Amino acid sequence: MRVQRGICAKLQGGFLRRWWAAVAVGVLLIIIAAVLAVLFPKIVNVLINKEVALREGGRAFGWWKQPPVSPHMHVYIYNVTNADEFLNNGKKPALQELGPYVYIERWEKINVTFHGNDTVSYQQRKEFVFSPELSAGSEEDLVVVPNVPMLSATSQSKHAARFLRLAMSSIMDILKIKPFVEVSVGQLLWGYEDPLLKLAKDVVPKEQKLPYDQFGLMYGKNGTGADHYTVFTGQNDITKYGMLDKWNGKKGLGHWTTPHCDSVMGSDGSIFPPHITKHTVLKVFDKDLCRALPLVYKQEVMTAGGVPGFRFVPPADVFASSERVHSQQCYCPAGPPCAPEGTFNASLCQYDSPILLSFPHFYLADPALREAVTGMSPPNSEEHQLFIDVQPTMGTALRARARIQINLAVSHVRDIKQVESFPDIIFPIMWFEDGIDELPNEMTSLLKMAVDVPPVAHAAVSATLAALGIIVLAGALMCLARAARRQEKLHLSNPLPANASTGKNGMSPAFQTSTGTK
Ligand SMILES: *[C@@H]1O[C@H](CO)[C@@H](O)[C@H](O)[C@H]1NC(C)=O
Ligand SMILES: *[C@@H]1O[C@H](CO)[C@@H](O)[C@H](O)[C@H]1NC(C)=O
Ligand SMILES: *[C@@H]1O[C@H](CO)[C@@H](O)[C@H](O)[C@H]1NC(C)=O
Ligand SMILES: *[C@@H]1O[C@H](CO)[C@@H](O)[C@H](O)[C@H]1NC(C)=O
Ligand SMILES: *[C@@H]1O[C@H](CO)[C@@H](O)[C@H](O)[C@H]1NC(C)=O
Repeated sequence: MRVQRGICAKLQGGFLRRWWAAVAVGVLLIIIAAVLAVLFPKIVNVLINKEVALREGGRAFGWWKQPPVSPHMHVYIYNVTNADEFLNNGKKPALQELGPYVYIERWEKINVTFHGNDTVSYQQRKEFVFSPELSAGSEEDLVVVPNVPMLSATSQSKHAARFLRLAMSSIMDILKIKPFVEVSVGQLLWGYEDPLLKLAKDVVPKEQKLPYDQFGLMYGKNGTGADHYTVFTGQNDITKYGMLDKWNGKKGLGHWTTPHCDSVMGSDGSIFPPHITKHTVLKVFDKDLCRALPLVYKQEVMTAGGVPGFRFVPPADVFASSERVHSQQCYCPAGPPCAPEGTFNASLCQYDSPILLSFPHFYLADPALREAVTGMSPPNSEEHQLFIDVQPTMGTALRARARIQINLAVSHVRDIKQVESFPDIIFPIMWFEDGIDELPNEMTSLLKMAVDVPPVAHAAVSATLAALGIIVLAGALMCLARAARRQEKLHLSNPLPANASTGKNGMSPAFQTSTGTK
């Protein structure tokens, strides 16, 4: 009571005006708190956009240029155990899935050049080191697989003149080229000298030459790739952050019939435009996939380091046949017959080899494809689905499994005796999984902060301001009320000075006295 009297003691004259000022401050604080409550998320978004944008010396740039992760590639190879019976007796191919053969990768972007117009270009360097400890076999394991260069050549000669096919058949006879080869796992992946490719290199005119005389499913991938990528930095337009603007100077692959299907506009899978919702469609471009792959929300997940994320997976009809999903027609420029349900014809990106891509074990594909061989277990989403877990606020990939199976579309070709007994079949060769499991602690703690701090800070700042405003306002109003009451008391106990203070004509006493003396 005494304290209140103390605070409110000097409520007369000039001090009264200060209390009205205090009321104004209290109201202002409450208004600011309300405005902040509305604007805070927008302010945080602006800060996040500034933080993630790629700029020289920035933290996000450092992580993007030299990802502090160690991706692992797991390779599984389908070893053919009954090649002779398949060729001679028409038996289904019997496959034995070998692996995983594990390679530890190191990624780096080199020749990074900023262009000043919100884009940056680079070349991708990847290094693969075999890990015998993590692998279920050695790189020297011998496997029997379809002879990809030969079967590509025969399939390409399908519509050629008859004499060419006969010539090809006899050349292959002389060189003892067979439809199946026995090579080591290391050779199959990283390259072995192929007699047919060597011959082609020696005799085919220069312009039509294949770029190498070796064949390997991963040939030339260990080291710096020749491709030039130009991506958006997100400094001006965050909605394009990390998206490919040009690939080797082009905005499209030049293979597919509509700009939408042909566009390379996708991310490399490590960063995405931030503020991802459950309705966002992410796009990932990979040149070996021969297209940008859309990814849609599947579920909420918890990743290593306790960072929650959204899991994105390809939609179920991503590799649908064009008969079933009409919009897929753009991926079948040569017209029917097109790739069967669940496969994607990447032939145009693979020097016209009849390569069909699918998900491992023909996940989401026509079951007939898997039933055409023996020894392949039924697919399940746990082991065979491709996915990327992202932190939605920042758009950072937290965990990923890029899973793809490589198949060869083989068919019977007349006049080439080596493949005359071949049925039309989609022959699985191998599948691989490129995986990232966890990010370094420095990164997860920052991501966790980005998730945890803004809501807390938001609540704390708004609540503090509002509380302060209410206290000031309440205090000031209380004092004003007290002053008013005191004023009233003064009127009651001593009416005369009160009358004098208001004056007869509403003039101040001082004015009255001065006029009175005149
Ligand atoms: C692959 O299959 C062949 C039989 O076609 C067999 O000789 C070979 O040992 C198998 N490879 C491995 C690594 O098991
Ligand atoms: C980096 O770019 C320059 C100029 O474009 C080029 O000469 C050089 O070969 C590139 N470096 C690598 C490793 O490709
Ligand atoms: C940005 O500048 C580079 C080099 O000047 C140019 O090649 C590229 O087309 C430009 N990109 C955009 C989106 O303007
Ligand atoms: C890839 O290249 C590095 C050196 O650049 C080498 O140490 C490694 O063994 C190579 N990996 C394969 C699978 O050839
Ligand atoms: C794959 O595409 C190529 C080129 O467009 C075409 O010649 C071939 O017939 C296609 N293969 C299948 C199985 O659709």
